[in-house]
Amino acid sequence: MSDIVTIGAGAFALSLRLPDLGMPEILSFGQPAVSAEPLFDIERSSRVNGMDIAVPSAVLLPTGGMGFFGWPAIAGHRQGRDFVAQFGAWRISREDARTVLLGTDPVAKLELAIEITAHASGLLSMATTLTNRGESDYQLDRCMAGTFLAPQGAVEVMSFTGIWGREFQTRRDALGNGIWSQESRRGRTSHDRFPMLFIEGADLRFGVTLGFSGNHQMVIDRTDDGQRLIHLGELFEPGEMILGAGQSYQSPVAYAGPDTAAFHAFVRGELLDWPGGHMSPRPVTLNTWEGNYFDHRMDSLKAQATAAAELGIERFVLDDGWFGKRDDDTTSLGDWDIDARKYPEGLKPLVDHVTGLGMQFGIWFEPEMVNPVSELYKAHPDWALSIEGRPILESRTQLVLDLTRPEVSDYLFAKIDAVLSNHAVSYIKWDMNRDLTHAGGLDGKAKFATQTRAVYALMDRVRAAHPQVEIESCASGGGRIDYGALKRTHRVWTSDCTDALERLEIQRGASRFVPPEILGSHISAVPNHQTGRRHTLAFRALVAIAYHLGVELNPLELSEDERSDLKLYIETYKRLRGLFHAPGANFQLEPVDGRYVWGAASAEKIVLIVAQGPQMVGEQPAPLRLPDSVTRFGGDWTIERVLPAEPEFIRISEGQKRLLAGEVSFSLAAAGRAGLPLPMLKPESAMLLELTPFKGGKSHG
Ligand code: GLA
Repeated sequence: MSDIVTIGAGAFALSLRLPDLGMPEILSFGQPAVSAEPLFDIERSSRVNGMDIAVPSAVLLPTGGMGFFGWPAIAGHRQGRDFVAQFGAWRISREDARTVLLGTDPVAKLELAIEITAHASGLLSMATTLTNRGESDYQLDRCMAGTFLAPQGAVEVMSFTGIWGREFQTRRDALGNGIWSQESRRGRTSHDRFPMLFIEGADLRFGVTLGFSGNHQMVIDRTDDGQRLIHLGELFEPGEMILGAGQSYQSPVAYAGPDTAAFHAFVRGELLDWPGGHMSPRPVTLNTWEGNYFDHRMDSLKAQATAAAELGIERFVLDDGWFGKRDDDTTSLGDWDIDARKYPEGLKPLVDHVTGLGMQFGIWFEPEMVNPVSELYKAHPDWALSIEGRPILESRTQLVLDLTRPEVSDYLFAKIDAVLSNHAVSYIKWDMNRDLTHAGGLDGKAKFATQTRAVYALMDRVRAAHPQVEIESCASGGGRIDYGALKRTHRVWTSDCTDALERLEIQRGASRFVPPEILGSHISAVPNHQTGRRHTLAFRALVAIAYHLGVELNPLELSEDERSDLKLYIETYKRLRGLFHAPGANFQLEPVDGRYVWGAASAEKIVLIVAQGPQMVGEQPAPLRLPDSVTRFGGDWTIERVLPAEPEFIRISEGQKRLLAGEVSFSLAAAGRAGLPLPMLKPESAMLLELTPFKGGKSHG
């Protein structure tokens, strides 16, 4: 028996055995590594279905046709021949935390490299490169990026679904005998099939995610011995991935990690690539969309910027409507020249005004799109992805440009570059407002895979030319949020829905894999533009305050009271953002009876945000038990401050009043075991509690 290959040193490791022929066998996953011992020398599979030689089923990236009867993670052929792949003769190379397993198939003339990395944050990642070593074309039908293993027994999968304006709704399915699968064919991460899952078994729980913004698939297959293989990878259209002689397919990266804290640590510590090398305090943003839509008036925008600066806002983002003849969403995408009707002297006067106020200037682009009603489409109708002979299918009256064509990408780069080079722009809101359909190139072949890579290449090119510019990934809200996009962007527009009640679930779901400072969360006007609900400013502000805070309304329309309240919440955000966004500080609890709790904790300060969604069913809320990530700081604490000054309680006892007034000191240990007895909030209201270590003196316990 060959040696055991171990990847990862901590509690979340992978142990493999490399056979002479066949895929690497998974001996253990998600636990401390196992070492060589006689038990592992025993063949783990007995005869299956009467076959004389047993084929192990818990393997990385199984291939079919040679005795493995589960779901093949790699498949392809040469015009029907070589429909079976069988890799062997594994070679290992290791460099720091990176291990590459290289297997060959001399019959089908293929080579497979599996790259597995153990990350400092505790994540393991996997990616594949498949190379055609034959003389003829090899059609790759499927090549997953990685495989992870869940133990046998009852296992649930937590996934995220939704629609426009209601992303990241958490769902749980119990896994059965059949295959659990989720596929996205929309050419973007999508609102309904987010490429992230949590796998929850009796004694092992972990998350997996694919770092890719295009078509993808996640498959959970039950093995012959009742374990589960979890495969993540790209999804190809028929004939989309044909490898010529010597050509390789490079998969996206699949990640697995033990918990949300590890995923956040990875995003913060390894994935994000900040201008200047580190994240600056996340600036409070004014986004002009809901306050102006397409109605851009220079005088008003300048006045809004002035009012924003007075409120403490630090970044002004000019949304859709500044280019072409874009008076509504039926025209001008592709015509990225400043609209001289709205901006007779160009954008410079507005940019200068904004930067003169000490704010950053950001601007909206939707580079991948074209409206049929546009100068660009008139000149180059063939630049849009389409399939000859098939009717085009508009969505939001737009089509998708074929970014795989260099002339298209060059055109877009030149347009974006011109705006960025001629103005002090420090931020792009990069939008993408439709799914891909009819995604064929001039050659009539599917372009999903190459289009996604071409979008990345354009983003990379813009970043290389303008390294000081941050990018926000938006796709009708949260339609393009994944670790592939986050590698080259710095913020995501979590959802087009700014209703605070809806945001409770949306942000809770998105937070599982994305840290709060990356999730854009805006305070918008009442009634809410998406739902018509009316919420207090306190509720709207507190639901947004721990994330990357923004304001999405016309500040000139605020009353004096609203203005001073908003100012207070912006000041509070600035005072607390260092803690909210500090690595390892943030936490969130599972909601109970409509009560959502999240916040951040350090040795000096604990901030709790308590929000009540729907009215509670219980007569009174259960005491709030603080999680270990908070109680670990120990000692006695008091509540120093409560926001708003008068939270909306259904009722409050005398003792609770004293607790909230800071007249009671309590041990964190007790707050963890017994919990904080907080009063019941009214539905759709929230409060923020700031806790500080008790400094002694008078305290009524
Ligand atoms: C999308 C975005 C919005 C806004 C509009 C502009 O819907 O998600 O935030 O930018 O486009 O058209």
